Amino acid sequence: MDTSKVRGDFPTMRKGRGVYLDSACQSLRPDSVIRAMTEYYEEYPGCGGRSVHEMSARISLETDETREKLASFFGTKDPNCYIFTKNTTESINTVAFGFGLKKDDAVVTTDTEHNSNHVPWLVLADAVGIKKRHSESGADGEFNIENFKSCMNGDVKLVSVHHASNVTGCLIPVKDVAEIAHDRGAKVLIDGSQAAPHMKVDLGRIGADFYAVSMHKMLGPSGMGVMYGTSEALEGLRPLTYGGGTVGLATYDHANMAPVPERFESGLQNYSGIVGAKAAIEYLDGIGMENVAAQDRRLMRRLMDGVSGIEGLRIVGPSRPDRRTGAFSFNIDMLGSHDVAMMLDKIDRIMIRSGMHCAHPFYESRGIDGSARASVYLYNNDEDVDRFAKALIKVAGTFGSH
Ligand SMILES: Cc1ncc(COP(=O)(O)O)c(C=O)c1O
Repeated sequence: MDTSKVRGDFPTMRKGRGVYLDSACQSLRPDSVIRAMTEYYEEYPGCGGRSVHEMSARISLETDETREKLASFFGTKDPNCYIFTKNTTESINTVAFGFGLKKDDAVVTTDTEHNSNHVPWLVLADAVGIKKRHSESGADGEFNIENFKSCMNGDVKLVSVHHASNVTGCLIPVKDVAEIAHDRGAKVLIDGSQAAPHMKVDLGRIGADFYAVSMHKMLGPSGMGVMYGTSEALEGLRPLTYGGGTVGLATYDHANMAPVPERFESGLQNYSGIVGAKAAIEYLDGIGMENVAAQDRRLMRRLMDGVSGIEGLRIVGPSRPDRRTGAFSFNIDMLGSHDVAMMLDKIDRIMIRSGMHCAHPFYESRGIDGSARASVYLYNNDEDVDRFAKALIKVAGTFGSH
């Protein structure tokens, strides 16, 4: 992969806006994504699937093509299995509230979930009386399959786990998880928001019933998500919202639901987001996800090597770079994570994230008051991670514990 060519495709890189190491939150966007979105607004800002004029026909076609691209990118056949949502959070909520969970049905998660895959189950526990169990990870935050199995009693109706953690960066063996869950008669929802940007995700092979991604973490527009479901799983799911676009025919007394996927896409859609998502998938496909994964691994190794000698460095999650997908979470003794992030920004315009990363239970249960997190992506280069390491050495040496 030619990183300097890749960097040339990103306006914020060309403009030298600093060292962006916050891609686990939201990635930068290449020209092609921005162009596709602008083109929609300038050339054919119509409404899909309703009006019959030319602009409307074009965006309807683009919408169909986006689903086709998604199906081939994720190794599946049926484009109608891809539902457009706002983000991973909305996708997970759609499954949580549409699955038909009843009192005493159990949902199994892990102890390292983002709040988006934690809070909906708490709400259902309160409102409906579902049971929520989580599988405990090991000391370094890695998934433990034996602990997971021990949660899988006969009452489990749904397993909902992340594919890659936004804190530890660790991957969960989701294919094995899906097999275990299916053997016990449960369905499987995977939060793929941190995995899909960084690796080849073959949904046909993984065999999950639902898989959620955020396009804004994989070069796509902000507030654009995708929920995948097998046809069988989607047919059995109730939509989260109802109204225009979701029905076949409505009379004063009755409404026939539209087929999948329209049933789940109520009201006017984020069309520029949809064409931007298509451009993002095309861009990633052009690079090749194997190349993206190799670049992320290489950068993570270099980054962690660069900071390994820092006194008072506390790594959150595994200290082996090959165990972390693209996120390096850490603390410096005697310094708050927000202070570290602000100092890096001030010293050398290095942008990272700080706080609890919406994984409150993970931090709270370990008695850690958050962490700083540097995350790499395909447009980062050696200089970016070296500048990060140099600035962090300075921060730790000047303000750390010694
Ligand atoms: C693991 C994980 N799950 C879910 C989410 C929520 O994603 P979104 O804000 O796109 O809904 C995030 C966001 O950072 C995440 O890292």
